[in-house]
Amino acid sequence: MVVKFKQQRDLFESERSFRLLVEGVADYALYMLDPAGIITSWNIGGERIKGYRPEEIVGQHFSRFYPETDRANGKPMRALGIARDHGRYEEEGWRVRKDGTFFWASVIIDPIYEDGELVGFAKITRDITERRDTQLRLETMQKQLAEAQKFDALGQLTGGVAHDFNNLLMIISGSLHTLKKGTSEDAKLQRAIAAIETATRRGAALTSQLLTFARRQSVNPQPIRFAERIEAIREVLHTGAGSSVQLAFNIDRNVWPIRADVSELETGLLNLVINARDAMPDGGTVTVSARNVVLSEILHAGEFVAISVADTGLGIPSDVRDKIFEPFFTTKPIGKGTGLGLSQVHGFAHQAGGTVKVESELGKGTTFTILLPRETAEPRQDRSPTLSRGSGTVLLVEDNPDVATVSTGLLEQLGYKVRRVPDAEAALREVELDGIDLVFSDIVMPGKMDGLSLAHRLREIRPELPVLLATGYSDAAADARGDFPILRKPYEIHELSEAIAKLPR
Ligand SMILES: Nc1ncnc2c1ncn2[C@@H]1O[C@H](COP(=O)(O)OP(=O)(O)OP(=O)(O)O)[C@@H](O)[C@H]1O
Ligand SMILES: [Mg+2]
Repeated sequence: MVVKFKQQRDLFESERSFRLLVEGVADYALYMLDPAGIITSWNIGGERIKGYRPEEIVGQHFSRFYPETDRANGKPMRALGIARDHGRYEEEGWRVRKDGTFFWASVIIDPIYEDGELVGFAKITRDITERRDTQLRLETMQKQLAEAQKFDALGQLTGGVAHDFNNLLMIISGSLHTLKKGTSEDAKLQRAIAAIETATRRGAALTSQLLTFARRQSVNPQPIRFAERIEAIREVLHTGAGSSVQLAFNIDRNVWPIRADVSELETGLLNLVINARDAMPDGGTVTVSARNVVLSEILHAGEFVAISVADTGLGIPSDVRDKIFEPFFTTKPIGKGTGLGLSQVHGFAHQAGGTVKVESELGKGTTFTILLPRETAEPRQDRSPTLSRGSGTVLLVEDNPDVATVSTGLLEQLGYKVRRVPDAEAALREVELDGIDLVFSDIVMPGKMDGLSLAHRLREIRPELPVLLATGYSDAAADARGDFPILRKPYEIHELSEAIAKLPR
């Protein structure tokens, strides 16, 4: 008997101290709900945080702590449902105090069972408004810091990119000099032409990287099959890798389609391959691979295609690792690297809804992996990369006489007759005369009407006439996106040929 009494007393004591503990906790609102959500107990923390005395709140429905909109859409009862079905409900969100003010709450709801039957819920609420404010302030400061760093980086632009461009211009003007002098030596002539070609390509790559950095590039994402695309890119990558390193491919033929801007993808891979080459001064192997992966990360969950470029080079030191994706970060000597390669890769991957990861081990090598979401739309059949010869008359609308001469040359090489006008008004007059099979117009032009308005006007008066637009300005391209096909300047003959071949007729 005595023993039983002692047990009961102990139980009573422990229950009492537990109740005191719960009631006395001031930093947490700890209280109970019945299965329908009616408040059945209250503690000092609840009073302190929400402002209600126990006699005011016990017996009320807990939904009164929620903001009006949450109550209207049934969030409180949904929370109880989740706690019941999943064993716990947890969230951070706005709640309302008795005086109508809001606080940011961390909320946990646990279901309570007795003999297998739901008897109610335990609710723990904490006021973390201050922590959230601190967090937000920190984020704002981080953003400001990032802005400041960006300005810093833009300052370095003068040093890095301008230097690179000057070199390219040197090469071009020097080679032009050779051409102008009129040498009879064929080898010299070819060398000069090749030098100009390389410099132009490098210049175009540089602007394309700058534009991606500025995130204003007119990207033209389309469903593609990487396994097929890589065939066309192979050659470019071989050139990028150079002769000192091996280039290997390991592409799963069944790799899912992805959605990306083809030339961005090509530039990204080229950047990675060139980096890999630079990391292997004593030679080695670069392996480009692609495979399907299923991810379950918070930001990236679902089906992805993983495109990797792996090298067997120096690896990335840990103090460098955090900075490599920053624009203009480079460890290479002036004139060798601008530090834009990886920021292009990063910009591209994120624009395409994916991400990029890096694994590296000092002395062993580095693997960059671009993860791109699986595309469900079927890619169009790849056209053969050979130039399709055209026929008919192209109306070229271009105000710059030098560009016009170059474009005319390219169009004629493709087999077209070319009529040339300097602006939109002249173009409309020319179209009236008939005999035009296709209009190829610059977007940004002097005069009242730009290329885009011209294209819209032509669609009204001559809907069957195909129109292709060209521009070097990404903003102009963005305005027209979707309405008319656009060729980005500078373009090469095969791009022009492809763009014309793709025109709806
Ligand atoms: N595969 C790699 N192995 C080792 N280090 C690398 C590798 N790829 C990149 N890095 C490091 O990251 C830095 C930044 O690379 P990023 O491609 O952005 O610029 P860069 O190659 O220096 O110049 P750019 O690509 O503009 O010519 C490099 O300077 C190098 O230090
Ligand atoms: Mg690089």
